[in-house]
Amino acid sequence: MKVAVLMGGRSLERAVSLRSGARVEDALTDLGHDVVAIDADESLVSRLKNERPDVAFIALHGPGGEDGTVQSLLELLGIPYTGPGVAACVLCMDKVQSKHRMREAGIPTPDWVAFGAAAFRELGAADAIAEIEAGLGLPLVVKPASQGSALGVRFAGSAQEVPQALIAALSYDDRVLIERHVRGRELAVSIVAGEPLPIVEAIPESGDEFNYDARYEIGRTAYACPADLGTEQTAAVLDASVRTWEALGCEGFARVDLMLGQGEGDGADAAGGGPQVLEVNSIPGLTDTSLLPMAAEAAGLSFERFVERALELALS
Ligand SMILES: Nc1ncnc2c1ncn2[C@@H]1O[C@H](COP(=O)(O)OP(=O)(O)O)[C@@H](O)[C@H]1O
Ligand SMILES: [Mg+2]
Repeated sequence: MKVAVLMGGRSLERAVSLRSGARVEDALTDLGHDVVAIDADESLVSRLKNERPDVAFIALHGPGGEDGTVQSLLELLGIPYTGPGVAACVLCMDKVQSKHRMREAGIPTPDWVAFGAAAFRELGAADAIAEIEAGLGLPLVVKPASQGSALGVRFAGSAQEVPQALIAALSYDDRVLIERHVRGRELAVSIVAGEPLPIVEAIPESGDEFNYDARYEIGRTAYACPADLGTEQTAAVLDASVRTWEALGCEGFARVDLMLGQGEGDGADAAGGGPQVLEVNSIPGLTDTSLLPMAAEAAGLSFERFVERALELALS
């Protein structure tokens, strides 16, 4: 079968995407497919028209590749593609919209408020910081509505730190959300065709919890898969993840990021017990250190078999 692997692109996650794409390309070659690797740029549509692949494997991350744009182009060209469809990608890329869907579906997600940049310029939203702090507690988590890989995510330990965190987040997107901080364990559930793979836990080196620059250095965050959780906790985490996949209309494969709140301590954190869904990645990382391949491996699903399955799902 002729498979186009779409990778690279212009997003800030280009480097990760190139690594995801290269790994997918190798797997497809080993599986005996006729593989065309395409670095997504302004020639994307003309290349797809010339190459006429039977199916496209999307290994793009971030805006463009993960937000429904490339998916729409592939639909126009009549080329089946891996991963969720256009509508699900649009929703997953937008953390604010996804959180509204989760809330409607009764899926626990941390409380939040969201603003566009114009709210600060034109409506004096910055004057509401005291109320936001009173409602959501400290620390506050400030993040851009889109983007991934913790780009632009900041923790504000006091109300004075909020403006700077907002400026940082607004440099990535013109919409930001301010979210209640969940103290607890950081988990990820990859899902293939609606079936969850074993839970991955990210365990930061102590002191790195709030420092993503440090955490993304190789070796500074340890991963456990399957995560060491009790039967009830495991069931609650898997249930919240699968319900999120359904609520956002995912297909193919995706990864749900969540926190498992400790549900103790004071004020803000007290309500945060149990799983709290943060977001869904419609095109999760597929590099050799990424979480979906790690979870697949733990389930006895080799990377090649995962890739073959993703193609089957795209074609079904
Ligand atoms: N409300 C929150 N409470 C605690 N930690 C959070 C919260 N939101 C985000 N984080 C941390 O920031 C990381 C990135 O946030 P996430 O919402 O997954 O965005 P993305 O991965 O798209 O950058 C999470 O994996 C988690 O470690
Ligand atoms: Mg995430």
